[in-house]
Amino acid sequence: MARIALVGASSRVSAFVSVLRRSEKLKGLHEFVALFDIDQGKMKGFCQKFDLQLPCFTDFDAMCDAVKPELVIVTTMDATHAEYVIRAMDRKIAVVSEKPLCINAEQCRKIRDARSRNPEVFAVTSHNARYGPLTVKLKSMLDEGVIGRVLRMEYSELLDRRHGTSYFRRWNSRRACSNGLELHKSCHHFDKMNFLLDSRAAEVTAMGALSYHGQKNPHKYEGVRCHECRYKDVCPDFFEYDKELFTSDAIYTPDLCIWSSDIDIEDDYAGVIRFENGVICSYSVCAHAQYEGEIIQIEGETGRIEARSVYFRDIREKGSVHDTDIITQQTLTLCRFGKGTAETVEIPRGEGSHGGADENIFTRLFSVPPDPALPTLEDGIQAVLIGAAMVESLKTGKTVKVQEQL
Ligand SMILES: NC(=O)c1ccc[n+]([C@@H]2O[C@H](COP(=O)([O-])OP(=O)(O)OC[C@H]3O[C@@H](n4cnc5c(N)ncnc54)[C@H](O)[C@@H]3O)[C@@H](O)[C@H]2O)c1
Repeated sequence: MARIALVGASSRVSAFVSVLRRSEKLKGLHEFVALFDIDQGKMKGFCQKFDLQLPCFTDFDAMCDAVKPELVIVTTMDATHAEYVIRAMDRKIAVVSEKPLCINAEQCRKIRDARSRNPEVFAVTSHNARYGPLTVKLKSMLDEGVIGRVLRMEYSELLDRRHGTSYFRRWNSRRACSNGLELHKSCHHFDKMNFLLDSRAAEVTAMGALSYHGQKNPHKYEGVRCHECRYKDVCPDFFEYDKELFTSDAIYTPDLCIWSSDIDIEDDYAGVIRFENGVICSYSVCAHAQYEGEIIQIEGETGRIEARSVYFRDIREKGSVHDTDIITQQTLTLCRFGKGTAETVEIPRGEGSHGGADENIFTRLFSVPPDPALPTLEDGIQAVLIGAAMVESLKTGKTVKVQEQL
């Protein structure tokens, strides 16, 4: 039985724990032996939620020395993943890191070095998005050559004002913690692109802006945390969280003001990515959209695929931002060369969080032995490098050679 230490009492760790506990296939294969976070309150909340009596630590090395985990699952704030991934590998502890593997090229370099020092250690990046039913379907269509050689891709992501805005009331909106949505959010899309196109990015050019959140504040609110704000009774974006679950008053409490001048990331960006196999991809993200959705278009030598997912919901409701049972419209069409019509292709529906992607990756990850085709640390690095190049390009206005960042 593998002894698992949970590194991060985050919201995200719940997905791992839930699947591991629920899955008949994984039952009895693993046990949780410790929880580590810098926030005691979050650890307490986690243990209560899952009714677990776990030893809790605020010191990573002390935890490793005390409980000798065989595997750590890293789900802390993005900027901190690299540190725990490297420290685990150097202790010969297997590691699963949440996406993004890290937040910049410098951290990628350090992780690559740690990987070369420890080639035998099991280490993967939990890029669950490539395991979503639509992506799995797209991958099989491309691998079967349904549209021939891929020539061109367009990828557009819309985050509504419930999901998109949620990033602006948390640590994600501070460059130092996340390096922006180009890393935090787009790493999902960049990994999917690398996976679908079976290539790596060569060059990136991008532009971006903070168009809606931050200082574009139409209400002239003052940018203080919601619970301290004198406009809390009138602000439509007032957000209350359970203070019992946070003992510190750090940046990762989820009630930062979405109109704060401290927000230093973009909520709108667009770029062009040229892949090493010659495919050019135009890509855009809008994190203040009226509805949630994703549009992927792939043009091949002998056909064209168009996938469109739309999620309509009341963006003023305070429910989960990751509801996946609210897909209101999902279409996949295939246009074959010369036919002059489009066929509708069926997309299998998955069960559980992220449309079944979590169940799909975690089952592969925690099986004994794990699936050898899981996303590697290098896959994680390749997704991060595109995001980092996008951030650099929109800062400098120049085209960035993606692989030369290392
Ligand atoms: N794959 C997915 O679909 C998916 C979905 C959501 C989040 N995530 C990832 O999961 C991770 C957690 O995201 P979340 O939204 O659940 O975050 P969260 O804000 O709920 O939790 C972040 C945790 O990190 C802890 N932390 C901050 N600094 C730390 C440090 N130096 N050392 C140790 N712990 C520290 C905080 O105390 C907090 O408990 C992120 O990396 C995010 O990108 C992935």
